[in-house]
Amino acid sequence: MSKMEVKTSLLDNMIGVGDMVLLEPLSEETFIGNLRKRFEHNEIYTYIGSVVISMNPYKSLPIYTADKVEEYRNRNFYELSPHIYALADEAYRSLRDQDKDQCILITGESGAGKTEASKLVMSYVAAVCGKGQEVNKVKEQLLQSNPVLEAFGNAKTVRNDNSSRFGKYMDIEFDFKGDPLGGVISNYLLEKSRVVKQPRGERNFHIFYQLLSGASDDTLKKLKLDRDFSKYNYLSLDSATVNGLDDAANFRTVRNAMQIVGFMEDELQSVMELVAAVLKLGNIEFKPESRVNGFDESRVKDKNDLKEMCELLGIEQSVLERAFSYRTVEAKMEKVSTTLNVAQAYYARDALAKNLYSRMFSWLVTRINESIKAQTKSRKKVMGVLDIYGFEIFEDNSFEQFIINYCNEKLQQIFIELTLREEQEEYVREGIEWTNIEYFNNAIICDLIENNQNGILAMLDEECLRPGTVTDETFLDKLNTICAEHQHFESRLSKNSKFLTDHSLPHSCFRIQHYAGKVLYRVEGFVDKNNDLLYRDLSQAMYKANHSLMKLLFPEGNPAKVNLKRPPTAGFQFKASVGTLMKNLQTKNPNYIRCIKPNDKKASQVFTDSLVCHQVRYLGLMENVRVRRAGYAFRQAYEPCLERYKMLCKQTWPHWKGPAREGVEVLLKGLEVPEEEFAYGRSKIFIRNPRTLFFLEEKRRQCLEDLATLIQKIYRGWKCRTHFLLLKKSQVVVSAWYRRYAQQQKYKKIKSSSIVVQSFIRGWKARKILRELKYQKRCKEAVTTISAYWHGTQARWELRRLKDEARNKRAVSVIWAAWLGTKVRREYRKFFRANAGKKIYEFTIQKIMQKYFLGLKNTMPSMSPIDKTWPARPYLFLDGTHQELRRIFHLWRCKKYRSQFTEEKKAIYEEKLEASKIFKDKKALYPSSVGQPFKGDYLEINKNPKYQKLNSVMDEKVLLADVVNKINRANGKGAPRIFLLTKKKFVLADQKTGQVKASVPLPDLNSVSVSTQSDGFFALKLKEGTPSAAKGDFLLSSDRLIEIITKLHRTGAASAERETIGVDISDEFLVQFKQDKVCVKFIQAGPKNGNSVACKRKNNRLLEVSVPSP
Ligand SMILES: Nc1ncnc2c1ncn2[C@@H]1O[C@H](COP(=O)(O)OP(=O)(O)OP(=O)(O)O)[C@@H](O)[C@H]1O
Ligand SMILES: [Mg+2]
Repeated sequence: MSKMEVKTSLLDNMIGVGDMVLLEPLSEETFIGNLRKRFEHNEIYTYIGSVVISMNPYKSLPIYTADKVEEYRNRNFYELSPHIYALADEAYRSLRDQDKDQCILITGESGAGKTEASKLVMSYVAAVCGKGQEVNKVKEQLLQSNPVLEAFGNAKTVRNDNSSRFGKYMDIEFDFKGDPLGGVISNYLLEKSRVVKQPRGERNFHIFYQLLSGASDDTLKKLKLDRDFSKYNYLSLDSATVNGLDDAANFRTVRNAMQIVGFMEDELQSVMELVAAVLKLGNIEFKPESRVNGFDESRVKDKNDLKEMCELLGIEQSVLERAFSYRTVEAKMEKVSTTLNVAQAYYARDALAKNLYSRMFSWLVTRINESIKAQTKSRKKVMGVLDIYGFEIFEDNSFEQFIINYCNEKLQQIFIELTLREEQEEYVREGIEWTNIEYFNNAIICDLIENNQNGILAMLDEECLRPGTVTDETFLDKLNTICAEHQHFESRLSKNSKFLTDHSLPHSCFRIQHYAGKVLYRVEGFVDKNNDLLYRDLSQAMYKANHSLMKLLFPEGNPAKVNLKRPPTAGFQFKASVGTLMKNLQTKNPNYIRCIKPNDKKASQVFTDSLVCHQVRYLGLMENVRVRRAGYAFRQAYEPCLERYKMLCKQTWPHWKGPAREGVEVLLKGLEVPEEEFAYGRSKIFIRNPRTLFFLEEKRRQCLEDLATLIQKIYRGWKCRTHFLLLKKSQVVVSAWYRRYAQQQKYKKIKSSSIVVQSFIRGWKARKILRELKYQKRCKEAVTTISAYWHGTQARWELRRLKDEARNKRAVSVIWAAWLGTKVRREYRKFFRANAGKKIYEFTIQKIMQKYFLGLKNTMPSMSPIDKTWPARPYLFLDGTHQELRRIFHLWRCKKYRSQFTEEKKAIYEEKLEASKIFKDKKALYPSSVGQPFKGDYLEINKNPKYQKLNSVMDEKVLLADVVNKINRANGKGAPRIFLLTKKKFVLADQKTGQVKASVPLPDLNSVSVSTQSDGFFALKLKEGTPSAAKGDFLLSSDRLIEIITKLHRTGAASAERETIGVDISDEFLVQFKQDKVCVKFIQAGPKNGNSVACKRKNNRLLEVSVPSP
């Protein structure tokens, strides 16, 4: 069957009515009749609006399959027939999609199916929420925490074979996607009295039986246990085995579940050791031993069990044994030890067993929480599932029942608060027309129990803390006086005489009229159970145990932390934790499952009207229906409502500008929803019928689908269009390129073929022309040859004729000339013989000379004195003349050249001439100086202000001013000096300061020595005996050596009164330095010494100057 076909509706194939709101007429009979009819047809779920009523079928129904989960998944609450899955789905979806924290409140009396319902909700949520390795692990751990807690916290009671003996509230945490992250379990007051004693027909907690039946022989041996239940005092025997309960198999399930949840092997072992220890503890018995003071003191009867128990827990036997016989009381720093009698010893033993077990149970919860704790700190969405022990009325009700019933009372209160009162108040608040519906508010009963001043719990605490003798009777007395007037409190001895004769109310009891019925409580044990005392000796003994769990379980046993303050009482603790729970629940969106028990016999198909009627009454289900029917099924603030449904109307889609309320009005009008189906509140719209909501939802869903299709359509269109346009564009580009290419190829082909054709044609034409031309040429050649031959022949003929003719002519003229000559010679012979020969000779010579000179005029060289060219000699006999003419011409042009000179230029040339006389071919430095003009005053000392002082010292015109290096004889290094020369003297002055260092009159200068090489060294040698000579000769160096020495020489020569200054040119000369004569020697430096002149002192008498080779 396909999924589409299973679409059923709340209204399809309806047995009775699925929603009590639709019940017509509404009365208790029809209500119960409807429940019965549905129950008989296995329809165990029925709605009252959004509340689910669940009847316990006491048989397994095929309505929890995976297919069912799929059917209810993501479906509207009212869409399918009532099911717990619909509620779970609704809660989960509004948690996931609307971010509202949820709580699922499951109420009902013991055996009504609360625990089953909570498991169904959890398994549904686990099935529909996200999947993935990590998520699945979390889910598995959350689900597997149930069998573990059930094994330790559930037991068979007369009402329920698997009755929860503790309250459990579990927060399942989800991330924003709705994937489970983890959970937190809170447990409420375990009924620990069951550990030591069970009412008739009931059992101890499942784990004891499971361990003994399911554990391997080996394990049992290790735990020192026996498989036989009857060996253990704490296990009631009459109902040790329960029909349909396989303890052994369950033990394996529990072990497995513990492993999945994350218990380590050693933790598992420790827990089993504790369970075994409790069993052993129950077997310890005491006997009285008389003492001298007349009191009995207890002694352990058979020490074997004690020993085994101590071994299991690692306790020193003597310590525990002593703790069972003595009790240390600490008061005001004093320790008093009193003995315990047998009854007290049993009391101590049982207290220890109860504490051991209940603390272990709390530890289990903590340990499970550690495993299932969400790993992230980010904000979580929470779904809380509350499965608390149901309301119970036993024959004998004690403190535990009182506490359990109080808790149920509180839950009823919260139900009333949130559904009945809150709903009605909301109508009033929103200004919706409303007639109040009466319902019973149990706040008064809650107040009776929990009021801080005169509530029963407060008085019990007061009694427990009061000094003096406190017994359960004194507590009852107190109740009798204080609560006597309360209309829900009944007691035989209360001042209210009404009950004095009520024999159903024993003296040691009080009765409370709970919302769910009257319950008679026996006060016996109230004080004790509320105190929940464990002798300190016992807790200290436990703390000392060498066992991994014991220190955690009995922290108050730590001697270092002795606390004399009383621990808070059990009642106080429970009240506080219930208070916290209620606050927690109020912050969440509640979802109710009201469980109803069809019969007392745990039988399927049995529907006891009176029992159901009772439950329907106290659960306030009729009122619930009435409120629901009178009111509106659904309400929502205008803004979110408009936001959710605005797409259903053209005016409101996509944006509504006006106030939200008007938008909603327009919307509903547009949708033609009948007027009576809704009401406008102040801030909310109220929709009467769920079907209207369903109609809106359905419309919205369709509309969303259409919108999605539209968006998809537009997007797909856009995508295809852009894709197509892109393809088209690319195609155009590609084809353009291809066409171009193809045309190119085609063109190339045509071109090359036409070239081929052309070349063939041209070749053919050319060959044709060539052939023609060749033919013509051959013709021409033939003609030419023929004509040449012809002309040749003719010419030869003519030549022969002319030759003949000329020969003839010449012969005639020769003969004639010869004849004439002979005639003339005969005539002139007599004159000619005298001087004719000489004249002819002279004439010939004259003619030749004339031709020579005229020719020379045209071939004359330039006027430059350095022009070396000269025309070639024409005749050998003119050689001498030719050379002489050349010399004369040169001298003449030199004279011409000189005649252009000014006086200054003349002087300069004279100087240059003088230099050449002195140095030419004698000093290697000379050629480089030829091109440089002799400027003389290089320093321009009369213009340069720096040398003003020096200038003023000079009394004559300065002929030369330059910077020279004065060579130091000591190291051969030079120091710059200004060298000045006038007609009369030369002066050496400091370059920087211009201070005169030496002034030597020229007559005192004897000679100058220089080397033959290209260096600038020169020695100015002074005449011996003159005053200047006293300081010694000067060894100087200058690049302008040639100019300096020439000028010195000329100046010396110019002064008439003295002889010229001699210039010695030699590579070795002596210089007189003060006393010593030093030889200055010039050598050619090798190439590696660089190309600068270096002067080095070789020894005292030798300065060596190395000059780079040119
Ligand atoms: N939906 C169901 N289908 C089949 N059997 C059910 C269902 N609900 C409950 N039962 C049966 O009823 C028994 C008692 O149910 P459950 O333990 O859930 O009751 P309870 O309300 O938790 O009682 P208590 O308050 O004692 O814990 C279950 O052990 C089971 O056999
Ligand atoms: Mg239960």
